[in-house]
Amino acid sequence: MYSTKWTASKIKALKGKQHFACLTAGDYITAKLLDECAIPLLLVGDSLGMTMLGYETTLPVTMAEMLHHTAAVVRGAKSALVVADMPFLSYHVSVQQAIANAGRFLKSAGAGAVKIEGGASRAPTVKALTENGIPVMGHIGLTPQSIRALGGYKIAGRRAAEIKKLVSDARALEKAGVFALVLECMPPETARRITAMVKIPTIGIGAGPHCDGQILVIHDMLGLSANVSPKFVKRYADLTAQIRQASGQYKAEVENGKFPAKEHCY
Ligand code: KIV
Repeated sequence: MYSTKWTASKIKALKGKQHFACLTAGDYITAKLLDECAIPLLLVGDSLGMTMLGYETTLPVTMAEMLHHTAAVVRGAKSALVVADMPFLSYHVSVQQAIANAGRFLKSAGAGAVKIEGGASRAPTVKALTENGIPVMGHIGLTPQSIRALGGYKIAGRRAAEIKKLVSDARALEKAGVFALVLECMPPETARRITAMVKIPTIGIGAGPHCDGQILVIHDMLGLSANVSPKFVKRYADLTAQIRQASGQYKAEVENGKFPAKEHCY
């Protein structure tokens, strides 16, 4: 089913037909490998600020950094839809600024869509972007760009009032035109309710099994994160151990003269 060039409308059409897997990517070779594995949607998430650039949060990530990483991912992704995360304060000041910045992801980096964080208050921005030909993915629940206002990384949608707010945010974003909606860190029942209510696919991260799609940060699922992984991460490989082992062995072999051997010489 995945021998296609994925677009926002093709992702939208998966609703109710097929659960689908998405991953983050921030560089060419990762994008190429994931594309070859037929992952239909690659998110150039601003989490790369932590996983690839060593920042403590996503807040310092700049437009220049996101454009640079997005262009590399686009070069590696022949089939996958590449969605660029708009960094903190690149779409907040005005709708005009949001259009100009989102446009750069499509025009100069080659992305197929952008993602912005936030609920109903972002609906006018989503509407303006989609009306100007820029597909938008929404993101509600735990929104890491609001960490200072939230007071930390907190699970969303536990209390009745929070659930009500998430439901109305999801409705407003759908009406404004998002083609898919990330639901981050909320109880499975809250995500199930939102997924059943909207006609666009929901993509869960720490939101349980009822979402239409799932997404993980590639560094977390490969065991390459510098920080402790949250509970919702399943580690599918331990690349930290493999890199340590391989580079330790290389160092030892250079020091003891085992590398380079005859077969590595001209
Ligand atoms: O930045 C990111 O990687 C994200 C995902 C967690 C959805 O926004």
